[in-house]
Amino acid sequence: AFVVTDNCIQCKYTDCVEVCPVDCFYEGPNFLVINPDECIDCALCEPECPAEAIFEEDDIPAGMEHFIELNAELSEEWPNITEKKDPLPDAEEWDGKPNKLEHLER
Ligand code: SF4
Ligand code: F3S
Repeated sequence: AFVVTDNCIQCKYTDCVEVCPVDCFYEGPNFLVINPDECIDCALCEPECPAEAIFEEDDIPAGMEHFIELNAELSEEWPNITEKKDPLPDAEEWDGKPNKLEHLER
């Protein structure tokens, strides 16, 4: 499955949800996740993310492996999102900042 990682946090551009053929994105206050059981590995979302936050599970950058479990967990709790909306207000400012996980809101 594909996985949303750290750089989505506090940005949440949501371009990714528009292209997903199986609508498997789920939305929290400042982060999106992919349901790994529903993702069909089409790879369409990966190039759409302006924050380059989406990776194939086997291609996750070192140190971000914990996002695999986090996507699985939070996609069971959060509501589905299928339409693009405005990014978070400070998205540009946060884009590229390291280690945003401590800012994750649930
Ligand atoms: Fe959806 Fe395809 Fe991305 Fe999986 S890889 S989340 S199916 S767009
Ligand atoms: Fe997040 Fe990128 Fe989608 S910032 S909401 S994974 S387009």
